[in-house]
Amino acid sequence: MRKIAVLVGSLRKESFSRKVAKNVMDLFPSEFETEIIPIGELALYNQDLDDGNKPPESWRNFRNKVKESEAVLFVTPEYNRSVPGVLKNAMDVGSRPMKDSVWKGKPAAVISNSPKNLSGFGANHHLRQSLVFLDMPVVQQPEVYLANVATLLDEDGKINKEDTIQFLQSFVDTFVKLINQNNG
Ligand code: FNR
Repeated sequence: MRKIAVLVGSLRKESFSRKVAKNVMDLFPSEFETEIIPIGELALYNQDLDDGNKPPESWRNFRNKVKESEAVLFVTPEYNRSVPGVLKNAMDVGSRPMKDSVWKGKPAAVISNSPKNLSGFGANHHLRQSLVFLDMPVVQQPEVYLANVATLLDEDGKINKEDTIQFLQSFVDTFVKLINQNNG
């Protein structure tokens, strides 16, 4: 199985971002296994622990999980016009020790969303700024900004708008092409 790591930038039980992520995970071809990698239990990044070669178990498990994956899908809300701290912490944990960054060269794709009109543009692009430095080829088009996200989801958390599903399918298809090119 070809693994795709999915990182969700919210720990909220009823997170719209997680619901969107689950819908998008269903759109990958069957040869891919998608998995949400938990980030809520990651100890806050502290460089001393890497410098002393004593990374916490939560970091080691997370780093291994991402390393096993071919690519990474990010689905995030925006907090204070930027990336939620919990997701930034996960990015930082995965990026060190620098010579062993789990992100390097892995294809990535970004979805941002919001319950109102903004759609998480600030988070989306602050995340992309980090992905440039982390040397991850990112799906450029289509960009995915989901505004008024609650209106896209039914009571079971399923996306209920056919044009949104088709749009997200085209995004996943582009991501799969990028992943395949990267391995070619
Ligand atoms: C928010 N929210 C928010 N929304 C937005 O569109 N732009 C923003 O800058 C912020 N800032 C912000 C900061 C903090 C600390 C919180 C808790 C919330 C609202 C946010 O979009 C809303 O709570 C979403 O429902 C969060 O995403 P999940 O948990 O539904 O995935």
